[in-house]
Amino acid sequence: MHKRSSSIVVVIAATAAWSAAPDVAHADATAGQKLFAANCAECHERGEFRGEPARQLATTVRAMAAGTREHPAPITLNDEQIADVVTYFASGRK
Ligand code: HEC
Repeated sequence: MHKRSSSIVVVIAATAAWSAAPDVAHADATAGQKLFAANCAECHERGEFRGEPARQLATTVRAMAAGTREHPAPITLNDEQIADVVTYFASGRK
């Protein structure tokens, strides 16, 4: 009984930490597809990141946009646009 209630607290804390960033679960893959074509397709294949967890990709791309993670091209997307792009990646759509 004690164990169960403490794991619920952990889940709530993890959810609260994520709510600060745009929710990748509600992002727009169609908008992401257009952003990808305009900003990333020059160097990345469509479907290159297929199957990678969207949240993990979002963390990576945000770090690149913030300049704390190296990437050959500057990423000029805002948080909402990043959520859209990674949702498109993770959807595996062409
Ligand atoms: C000028 C070329 C260029 C552009 C434009 C570009 N990238 Fe990259 N990107 C690279 C190269 C080169 C790498 C490193 C090799 C690789 O993983 O393909 C890379 C790596 C990445 C990685 C993997 C990073 C890691 O450490 O795991 C992600 C994610 C990524 N790019 C996302 C994007 C997104 C999103 C865009 C568009 C907003 C974008 N890139 C635009 C060249 C580019």
